[in-house]
Amino acid sequence: MTAQSLQDIEGGKTLAVRYGGAVPRYTSYPTAPHFSGLVNGDVYAEWLGTIGSGDKVSLYLHIPFCHELCWYCGCFTKIVRRYKPVAGYVESLLREIDMVVERLAGKPEATCIHFGGGSPTILDPRDWQRVMNRLRASFDIAADAEIAVEIDPRTMDESYIRALADAGVNRASIGIQEFDEDIQRRINRVQPFQVTAQVVGWLRSNGIESLNLDLMYGLPKQTVRHVEDMTARALAFKANRIALFGYAHVPWMKTHQRLIRDDELPGLEERWHQASRAAEILVENGYVRVGFDHFALPGDPIVGEAGGVGRNFQGYTADTAETLIGFGASAISSMRQGYAQNVASLPSYAHSIEAGLLPVRRGVALSDDDRLRRFVINRIMCDMQADIGRACEAHGLDAGALDTEIDTLRPMVRDGLLDITGRTVTVTEVGRPLVRNVAAAFDAYLSTGEGRHSAAV
Ligand SMILES: C[S@@+](CC[C@H](N)C(=O)[O-])C[C@H]1O[C@@H](n2cnc3c(N)ncnc32)[C@H](O)[C@@H]1O
Ligand code: SF4
Repeated sequence: MTAQSLQDIEGGKTLAVRYGGAVPRYTSYPTAPHFSGLVNGDVYAEWLGTIGSGDKVSLYLHIPFCHELCWYCGCFTKIVRRYKPVAGYVESLLREIDMVVERLAGKPEATCIHFGGGSPTILDPRDWQRVMNRLRASFDIAADAEIAVEIDPRTMDESYIRALADAGVNRASIGIQEFDEDIQRRINRVQPFQVTAQVVGWLRSNGIESLNLDLMYGLPKQTVRHVEDMTARALAFKANRIALFGYAHVPWMKTHQRLIRDDELPGLEERWHQASRAAEILVENGYVRVGFDHFALPGDPIVGEAGGVGRNFQGYTADTAETLIGFGASAISSMRQGYAQNVASLPSYAHSIEAGLLPVRRGVALSDDDRLRRFVINRIMCDMQADIGRACEAHGLDAGALDTEIDTLRPMVRDGLLDITGRTVTVTEVGRPLVRNVAAAFDAYLSTGEGRHSAAV
């Protein structure tokens, strides 16, 4: 897809403006603004009691600390200068693992472990060993389990990377965002190219070969030319995965984003062109598009058959386990029964754990209707296609149960974003960046107006 082809469709008035309004990212359905206090520690404990030996689970551990604040940051994190608060948090995390494990019906198999943040690389090597040892004692960790860590390259040296490898880490997601130094200064994240290159080299020489790079578009003063340079430089690393995130500017939620001047941010059409150009360059250089913001080299498990890609709170993943157990402040667990989120406040998290209470504060128990819509939204977001009639029947309903929703998508067919054959909805290559808008047609909560989201493009 080229920027030009988008212009053609609208005769100059681009789709970005028509469809670029706010929509959720659908890392869950129902989305987080619709979680409530009805799901608490007791409900979560009941759900945990249905998981036993032989069940496959994924684990997510949230480490909400960083050394320095990137002004664009939308993650849940806290800036710390000393290790003491991190050390205290690790104690709570270890205790939470024990509390969760006590409530399981058996010892499930962990096929995927993801450390996210924040910056998990703030943990010292000793704490890495302690946390991994606790997980190994508590879960049956699959021999080929993916053990992934989000890495801030600015704080790395080779001995640290060796410690990660020793702890069993076999996949790294590297925060880059942009290579241009002027833009780096505008977002308060100065990270020379050499620093990133060195870290990539150390990861590979220590056997951590599966690499993801995080890049961003829509940053202050960023232009299509910057994005072209950024993408070309990223190609040099030959990472098997690249995530290309559109900067989500939500200063009403993340007040520090006010440090980024609104008038320096590219508009919707410019963002669209940036995303299109980056995608074009990556595809020309052998990457395959996955979902709406990920790219992977052939051979990566997220490239391939429909149904082989899942979506979790970190984005697209090869991990399709039905159960994700989240640990740490703000972490969300996703289960057949619903979602359960831990309290975000660090003092409340610590108090809960100290009192021996599971720190879950909100969530949502899924109704049959939620489960059907979650399935449809997931397939659209991951496969760009869903047989809605078959999904309805598989959920015990008439094949036409979501026909009204399908009908709301007809204008997108006219815009070339979508094909509808019978009840099968297929997002076209032109429509791919707007897949969230397609998924939104099946979101029964969207019209209730709670929560504000970032722009679709
Ligand atoms: C937890 S950070 C990655 C690890 C580490 N903290 C770092 O920054 O290097 C997760 C990623 O989310 C992305 N991100 C953070 N804030 C964002 C925002 N407001 N909009 C879009 N992407 C964002 C960035 O690409 C970032 O690398
Ligand atoms: S982008 Fe990463 S390093 Fe920067 S503040 Fe956010 S979590 Fe921390």
